[in-house]
Amino acid sequence: MQPEKIGRYEIKSELGRGGMATVYRGYDPRFEREVAVKVLPPELLHADPQFRLRFEREAKIIAQLEHPSIVPVYDVGEENNQPYFVMRFMSGGSLTDRIKAGTFNVDQATKILEQIAPGLDEAHIKGIVHRDFKPSNILFDNKGAPYISDFGIAKMTQAQAGSVTGSAIIGTPAYMAPEQAQGDQVDGRADIYALGIILYEMLTGKQPYEADTPMGVAIKHITDPVPHILDANPDLPYGIEEIIQKAMAKDRGERYSTGQEMVDALHEVVRNIEAGRTTEKRTVVRKAPTKPKATVPQQKQPERRSFNVWMAIIPLLVLGVGGGIFFLLNGSNLLAGKETPSATPTAVIVEATSTTQSIQPPVVESTATPAAPTETFTPAPPTLTPTATIPSIPVIGGADRIAFVKDNDIWIMNVDGSDPRSLTMDRAAKFDLQWLPDGKTLLYVTGKTVKTINVETKVEEIITNFASSEYFEAFRISPDGKRVAISLARELHIVPFDLEQMKTVKKKSDLLALKGCFYSPDTIKIAVLDVFWAKDMQRVAVKFLAPAGNAYSETMRVMDIHLCNESLPQRLDEFPAERFAFKTNIMSIDWDGEELFLFNSNERNGGFGNLYIYNTRTHQAASKINVVGTCCYRDARFSPDGNYVIFAYQDITDPNGLIRLYYIPSGSLTTPGNYKPLAQFPEEFFEGNRKESPQPALRPVPK
Ligand SMILES: Nc1ncnc2c1ncn2[C@@H]1O[C@H](COP(=O)(O)OP(=O)(O)OP(=O)(O)O)[C@@H](O)[C@H]1O
Ligand SMILES: [Mg+2]
Repeated sequence: MQPEKIGRYEIKSELGRGGMATVYRGYDPRFEREVAVKVLPPELLHADPQFRLRFEREAKIIAQLEHPSIVPVYDVGEENNQPYFVMRFMSGGSLTDRIKAGTFNVDQATKILEQIAPGLDEAHIKGIVHRDFKPSNILFDNKGAPYISDFGIAKMTQAQAGSVTGSAIIGTPAYMAPEQAQGDQVDGRADIYALGIILYEMLTGKQPYEADTPMGVAIKHITDPVPHILDANPDLPYGIEEIIQKAMAKDRGERYSTGQEMVDALHEVVRNIEAGRTTEKRTVVRKAPTKPKATVPQQKQPERRSFNVWMAIIPLLVLGVGGGIFFLLNGSNLLAGKETPSATPTAVIVEATSTTQSIQPPVVESTATPAAPTETFTPAPPTLTPTATIPSIPVIGGADRIAFVKDNDIWIMNVDGSDPRSLTMDRAAKFDLQWLPDGKTLLYVTGKTVKTINVETKVEEIITNFASSEYFEAFRISPDGKRVAISLARELHIVPFDLEQMKTVKKKSDLLALKGCFYSPDTIKIAVLDVFWAKDMQRVAVKFLAPAGNAYSETMRVMDIHLCNESLPQRLDEFPAERFAFKTNIMSIDWDGEELFLFNSNERNGGFGNLYIYNTRTHQAASKINVVGTCCYRDARFSPDGNYVIFAYQDITDPNGLIRLYYIPSGSLTTPGNYKPLAQFPEEFFEGNRKESPQPALRPVPK
């Protein structure tokens, strides 16, 4: 049963279960933030009297681990005999999910590894070894930046020699270095081994060793030669083969000594691919793949392991906990031949292999009659005018092109949906797409990096990277292109915007040096999660968490900032607040920059829900707009002239869950009608991903 509270943390839903623990999505009322609460099984306390002590000790060590690519642990505690710890909530899913969705190319894999390797190295410098490093412990934030989670948890939960259960090796066999599987002392190089396997899996979709039982897998790590990745994916360059062989070397002394060293080697391979130097692989003669063997292969192996390890397995205890299975091995036999063989039986805790994913159940509208619109909108009559200069490309709503996202990459098409072409191909999640005034440059945020892409040449540029901040949540350029509003560490900066100058900005002090306007929770009493510009640029609308009864809810505040730092911003409006009922987070907000806000609730598939319009002048909302159907909508955006609205719609009754784009006059939003999806846009374009968030960005026609 799901608890309502754990410690001071309010529990909202179950995020999933791993081999040992259950993870809940929770809310911390003290710091007003979403958290993930990981609860360990009470069995740990009962089975091992030393556990509590070690938990405390290890928790202190983990708490010291601060790095922008490591999921921060905020708190640890114990409730009803169940130890728990609280960490940052990561909304972007895990690397396991992404590998399931498709393999990575070398460039894409390198981009992920280069972000997490520094975190791994930092922990190793501090003497902390992960011990359970694997794709499900690489989590992404809402901007697609990867983080390592569960650092040191394996150690924390490791049973000690002499205890009731014997000494346990805790980890996941599929990623376990040979020395770890044998119960040796491990150091950072065990994590480097796992990093090699993670890379192998990203590039092939498979794990290097497969066997019928988890135990069989653990043994292959000890005895089988390192598989040749080129056998699993012959299209990879030979350099990758060498990297995998080195990272996964049986002898840890031969592995990369740091994650960075391995990333440097990957960069070299990427450079060679870019330079077209990838032919070596065809000239290299390799040994045929070695079949899995139960006995020790003729590879470089210490003498002492020359015995039939299968004989060593004596399952003494099988105990299921939270979906995991404990296997107890006869550790002394596994370590046979060592000078001081341990007499203590060694348990390997082997997880169930299936990953638990939280899937939101579809929400079915209970009533067919949506709330009556309280406001009617009478915009200028829609115009569908071919431009004089480029007669073949139509202009609708003052826009001629649409940039949008599919499978995390940016695409561009004409405003009628014709001619969609992909611009980026790196599959890193992208947000805040916006056109710069030159009409050629599209700016976007990926992870903590701000990038631009020239839509004609496809040349990409990194503008800045806020890697050293825990939160980087919005980067929005003002309508005149001269300023930018940034939410960094939940503080709001409004600074002059210049692409070249922005390249020198990396952190808060750099932003402050630009002498713009600065609003922190100390002054404005709210932590800014997102920000939007008014057309007059004297006002902004910010999203924050406001207390609502016993809980907190996302709220929008419109405020006057024209006096900048000379006075506190004047609060002009706030919604939903008391204005109208709204139960979920406020998803995919857009502002016409004058009176109207568009947004939707979160009902299913990662952010599809009911569509709302709110008028900040009249304080009226039109809720559950059902212009093309009842549910579900997302990513509604006003056209540059405000006369049209584009949105994605997923019919809740469609078993295929196809996502379609509509571009219709904004004045007709509150009147259901027989509207058709974008005329020229391929119907099945978004097939296969029910959670797609197209985030359309309409390009204003160059004046
Ligand atoms: N900080 C977090 N934010 C959001 N989701 C999380 C967080 N930590 C874990 N999860 C999710 O909770 C589920 C269970 O995580 P858990 O760490 O228990 O399992 P695991 O990583 O699969 O295996 P292991 O027990 O070996 O770590 C996973 O689906 C994971 O993606
Ligand atoms: Mg985990």
